[in-house]
Amino acid sequence: VISRVSVEDEGRRVKVTFPDGRACEFAAMWLFDHSDEARDAFSGQRRHSASLLEGGASVETVASDADGLRLRFSRPFGERRISVGALCAGVLRPRSSVELWEAPQAISEAPAVPFEAYLAEDGALREALARLRRWGLAILSGAGADPSAVERAVARFGFVRETNYGRTFDVRVEPAPGNLAYSDLGLDLHTDNPYRDPVPTLQLLHAIVVDEAGGESLFADGFAHAEALRREAPAAFDILARTPVRFAFAEASGSRWTHAAPVLSLDPLGAIEAVRLNHRSLDLEAGEAADTQAWYEAYLGFHRRVHAPGAVFERRLAPGDMVVFDNRRILHGRRALTRETPRWLRGCYADVDALAATLARLEAADAWEAPL
Ligand SMILES: [Fe+2]
Repeated sequence: VISRVSVEDEGRRVKVTFPDGRACEFAAMWLFDHSDEARDAFSGQRRHSASLLEGGASVETVASDADGLRLRFSRPFGERRISVGALCAGVLRPRSSVELWEAPQAISEAPAVPFEAYLAEDGALREALARLRRWGLAILSGAGADPSAVERAVARFGFVRETNYGRTFDVRVEPAPGNLAYSDLGLDLHTDNPYRDPVPTLQLLHAIVVDEAGGESLFADGFAHAEALRREAPAAFDILARTPVRFAFAEASGSRWTHAAPVLSLDPLGAIEAVRLNHRSLDLEAGEAADTQAWYEAYLGFHRRVHAPGAVFERRLAPGDMVVFDNRRILHGRRALTRETPRWLRGCYADVDALAATLARLEAADAWEAPL
């Protein structure tokens, strides 16, 4: 399993050569922290304090066997073991299973996951959650007309995220809507609640009553179009990634939710982490006129891309269909409703990290591949 191992840099590092010729160097402090003895046998958590490493740890000798490495650290640390699994987990990264979609072909061809199977079978649950990770969106079918179906769906992997709209919310035409989602207007592609911090990361919408015409659901992959913008119009991408903009929503009670963040949020490595796009709740500060003008041009460029006919996944939801999507990635919208429509969707929010935790359980050991 390990071809060669040696102590380097006066014990501060250990070099490990794997049979495929790949060599990795590990810091002595990392090896100590990730040794078998560092973890509590029951909780799996690290037992020692970081302050134990003050003054540094260095390796005096190292040897390999079939299970991993045997290390002797300088006093007071003594003998430790580290398994091959722990070494590999330190240098391998999760298999990337995200597929960006600039066009919706794959999603529109995938048959919906039956709701009863999703509730009863781990295989169907895994398929639905894996689609959410891959495409940012999954469709379940056959959920019937039970208004609690969204909560039952969330309970399979996590917890409902209650918001100012309640534990669940009903999307249907109201005479004096507090949010335009509850009117008969068509809705541009958007993400929900950009005025919240943190924003709800998962959304579920269950079609309980649908109309004969109007109200078709629309979806697009915000990450895919943001990456296309980065490739094709890098200056516009930079403006959207670097300029915080304010979003706001005022409730009838006078409570006012507000948050400022860029339309495209990047993680420290530059990967797109979240899209915030919702023209209804944009509350842009006037700013310096030339900068604001440049921001609008970049914003409209992105808006145009996501609304392009070839970009949009359009689906007329059938009664009992349930759409689950990542609200940081997937933009959703709808065509206008017909007047006095009975259309009724029940929605709720949940957290995407619970989905990842459940997928980790369902996929157990087969989610790793070689790096680089
Ligand atoms: Fe929405």
